Amino acid sequence: MSYKFPDTFIKQITSVHGEKASEWLSHFDEILADCEKNYDLHIQQPFNLSYNFVAPASRSDGSEVVLKIVVDQKEFEAELRSLQLLLGESTVKLLAFERERGIMILERIQPGQTLAEIEDDDKATLIAANVMKKLMIPAPVNSNVPNVLDRENSLKRIYQNYNSYQPVSKATIEEALFITEGLNTSIEKPYLLHGDLHHYNILGNGDSWTVIDPKGLIGDREYEVVQYLLNKLPEHGVEEITEITEKRIDIFVDVLNLNKERVLLRAYSHAVLATCWTIEDGQVHNNFFNTIQVFNNLVRKYIHKGALL
Ligand SMILES: Nc1ncnc2c1ncn2[C@@H]1O[C@H](COP(=O)(O)OP(=O)(O)O)[C@@H](O)[C@H]1O
Ligand SMILES: [Mg+2]
Repeated sequence: MSYKFPDTFIKQITSVHGEKASEWLSHFDEILADCEKNYDLHIQQPFNLSYNFVAPASRSDGSEVVLKIVVDQKEFEAELRSLQLLLGESTVKLLAFERERGIMILERIQPGQTLAEIEDDDKATLIAANVMKKLMIPAPVNSNVPNVLDRENSLKRIYQNYNSYQPVSKATIEEALFITEGLNTSIEKPYLLHGDLHHYNILGNGDSWTVIDPKGLIGDREYEVVQYLLNKLPEHGVEEITEITEKRIDIFVDVLNLNKERVLLRAYSHAVLATCWTIEDGQVHNNFFNTIQVFNNLVRKYIHKGALL
């Protein structure tokens, strides 16, 4: 019998990975059967699937683990490297892996609720800030981890090939590129960042919190809070989003001793880049446009033209 993925998952991975996704899906049953056999797993119902297959599993000795199968080889390599480099008390432990087919066996975090379940936004942000504080380490040399320069190049490519990023204007993309170039050339000390540290990648582990799913990014510490700022926001209303965002930023700046202007500029330019990426993937969502507007307003509220760049 073949594994039945929800249609939404198939649509999602196909829009991002194209041909590669169908190829992956056609081999999936075989991969799953091999995982059961090779790693002694009884695989249970997957977690909410977004871009990869992730499911809890038990072993015959009664231990609980998580099986993660990553569709994209490059993303798998980046996650693997980052898990190894960020190894510490706050990062999920990698128990085994297989490179060719993107398989990872991870320690299972229990109870494993995501930070998104905390209703009080200030409380959740304070937890995230303290997790980040423990996580960030100075960038290793020659580590082959993605760099903030890759983001700059991505914006450059989008700017040069501008034709179909409406309603994001070419002037907005140009500004985001200009800001990113300025920020990248003024990094005082580069850090190894998690690179995707939002609510759904921070899980409750007994009384503490553990980080999963690092993408790895070398850059300034201000970049690390951006993914969090862009996640779990009210669906509508620029005013509501702005109110929550300002409080979040103040907490991060305070706990992590960040430069507020850099946080605002990173968030604004990343919001533009992330929106263009979703346009490329054909998955445009209103919230992305809202965040561009929110950070655009905040940049103009707190940064006087020409003061920083
Ligand atoms: N080690 C783990 N322990 C418990 N739950 C996990 C673990 N790894 C992943 N999960 C659950 O699966 C979800 C998706 O996993 P994640 O690694 O973030 O996948 P993706 O790369 O698709 O975002 C997480 O939000 C979490 O709920
Ligand atoms: Mg994730």
